[in-house]
Formats: sequence, C-alpha cells, structure tokens
Amino acid sequence: MPVRSKPAETSDPRLARRSFLGIGAALTGSLALGVRPGHAQPASPPAEPPWSQSIGPGVVDRPYGRPADAEADVIRRNVPWLTAGTESSISFSPLQSLHGIITPNGLFFERYHSGRPDVDPDQHRLMIHGLVERPLILTMKDIVRFPSVSRIHFIECPANGGMEWRAAQLNSLQFNHGMISCAEWTGVRLSTLLEEVGVKKEAAWAMVEGADGAHMNRSLPLHKCLDDCLVVYAQNGEALRPEQGYPLRLVVPGWEGNVSIKWLRRIKLGDRPWYSREETSKYTDLMPDGTSRGFTWLIDAKSVITFPCPEKPLSGPGLYEIRGLAWTGNGKVKRVDVSTDGGVNWQTARLHEPVLSKALTKFTLPWRWDGRPALLESRVIDETGYVQPTIAQLRKQRGSNSVYHNNSIQTWQVKPDGSVFDVQLA
Ligand code: CO
Repeated sequence: MPVRSKPAETSDPRLARRSFLGIGAALTGSLALGVRPGHAQPASPPAEPPWSQSIGPGVVDRPYGRPADAEADVIRRNVPWLTAGTESSISFSPLQSLHGIITPNGLFFERYHSGRPDVDPDQHRLMIHGLVERPLILTMKDIVRFPSVSRIHFIECPANGGMEWRAAQLNSLQFNHGMISCAEWTGVRLSTLLEEVGVKKEAAWAMVEGADGAHMNRSLPLHKCLDDCLVVYAQNGEALRPEQGYPLRLVVPGWEGNVSIKWLRRIKLGDRPWYSREETSKYTDLMPDGTSRGFTWLIDAKSVITFPCPEKPLSGPGLYEIRGLAWTGNGKVKRVDVSTDGGVNWQTARLHEPVLSKALTKFTLPWRWDGRPALLESRVIDETGYVQPTIAQLRKQRGSNSVYHNNSIQTWQVKPDGSVFDVQLA
C-alpha cells in the first residue's frame, strides 16, 4: 500500500498548527484570526452577526434544555427492514456525531421486544422470590432508600454489526456500530437486594423479567448477579428515560444488552436456567455444524474508528486526528492499535482517561493524509490479552450463519476525494 505513517512529522507542532488552521479555513472560511500568510483567508475580521446585536430569550424559554437547532440531524435512526415493526425494533446511536465516552440520554440506542411501556412509578413493583429466605415486593421508594452506587458502563446489543457477517452492506458508522451506548448508571447493587431476601444454598440462577407486554426475560447465573449487576433508576444524573426502562432497569456490565432487563419487575432465583424464548430461538449463535452456542453473554473486545467514517469524510489532504472508541466486557481496554494500510502496519493509539472497566474508552492518533487511498482499521487488546479478530478470522471460527457477537475489526476505505466506505478485507 502507498499509505505511509509519519509519527515524527505529526509530532511537529508547527506542522500541526499550519495544517489544522488550513483545513479549518478551507472548511468554514471563518478562521480569519491566526491564519498564517499564504493560506486562504477572508480580508477582514468577522462581521457582527444578528445574534450579537440583540438580547436573546431569557431563562424561562427552555425549562428542559435541548440541542441547538443546527444539530437537528444528530438523532437515533432505525433500519426499517431490520425488524417486523417498530414495536420490536432498534434505534442506532449517531456515533459519528458524539464525543467522549458518555452517550447523551436522548441518543442512547433503543431496543424493544414489545414497544415502550408507559410505566407509573407509583404502581411499579419489584418482586424477588423463588429460592430465597424472605420473598420481597419493593416499591420505588423502598429501592431508592438502599445504599446507592454510580458506575459508568456501556451497553451493547449482541446484534451490533450483525448485518455484516456475510459481507459489508451498510455504508454507515451509525448502522454498523450504533447499537452501543455508554452512561453513568445510579442505583443499588443487585447483591444488596439479594442479601436482603437471603439467597438459599440451592440457588444458582436468576430469572430477570421486565414489565413490558412481552415480559422480556433472561436467565442469569447467580455469580454474575452477586458480582457487579446493578438495579438502576438513574442514567447520567436524571431518572431513566422511558425507552431505557423507567423507572427501574437491570444493568449487567460487560454482557450483551438484552440481559440488562428494562422496566425490571421480577427476579426469581432457581437452581437451573429457564430456557425461555430469548435463550432458545433468540440470542443463540448458529454454528457451521448446525449446533448452537447458548448463553453467550460476554461482549468480547471491540473497537471502531468514529472519525473519519462514511458519515464524516475527509475534506482534503493534511493533518487529522483519527478518533475512535474501544470496549470490552472482560474489563479494561489495555491498548488500541491503528492501521492506515489495511492491517499491514500498526501504530499504538493514545488512550484517553478515564479508562474504566466495561466502559467505552476513547482513543486517538494523529494522521497526516497524503490524499492517496487508505484502509483505516483499529484493533483493541484488552486486559486479559484478548485481541480483536478480523472478520476472516471470526468467520473461520463461527461460519457466517450467526447474527450475534460480530466483534471484528472494521475497515474504512478512504478514497482520493476523501469519501469513506465500509469494506471487508479477505
Ligand atoms: Co449472545
């Protein structure tokens, strides 16, 4: 490949300054101050725009804040053909327009199995029963009284990237990777609630169930429930949104999103799994030999370059910052490598603090684009030493019948005009 990486050059602050300002000026034409002679620039300072010449609305204008009007295309989107109807559908987060590791509450991806219930918090109850000493029915007021914790964790649907098992088909970061989001969750440790009811010795599993019309439910091993599961009522500092399970949901850190049951209403302990619909016909992985992998909860390490991407192309040669996100259900991200030549050569990206367990981690790498074709990839290695596989490696192991757990390396093809395309390498 003709693409070269030049870390020595990109670390030169003079080059970085000139290049960044040049790009900015070319893009907006508004960077009059600080542009070096010889670069395209307006002849005079910016004029006083209308909003600088009058008094704006006061504080009563917006009792609940909302994004600027110019950001109106930063929204969740769905793929109409993906599911039978909107009641059993998915909306994807616009990762191409987000920054940092926290997903705003209005842009957190959604997944419904029977639509979004409108739950009255005063009538909502959480029942904990089965193999316990003292079955309990808790109100929301009861739950909020328990000792609380706040934790930052991602939630990813295991079908994220599931449309790409056989071939690249959706030329979009949002649709290929947007079934992941990350938030600060506040609530009670599930272990605290289980201490309260007293777990019987024979108990080994929990069935967790939602209050939606489907009573969406999954079986979870008791050791995970006692480890790091949370029963949460708040997300990013405010009450859960209805689409995220208001007033109460489970968060199962690092495991596939469907086990983080929304509108949580029941936890039953037993000595074996329940084998409900969601762990037989759904959320199992069909292997090449016709058998199915069951109870594949773990989200293996995965990463993706979020800039550039098909929705955010390059605007001409020069210095850029390749940006992306990495995550792993195994704990913390240890390292992310970036390639600009389709995986022949790799450079280590910078990880941005905080690097948290089972949370999104931001990475960046300066890149001087010479205007020639490039193949951008990122590859994460987590703290267990697990290395993100290529799609070819994953297919060799699991075939291409699966829907779930495609955590392969994403390749973005950059064309000379700066446009970016979703491709797969053999
Ligand atoms: Co699975």
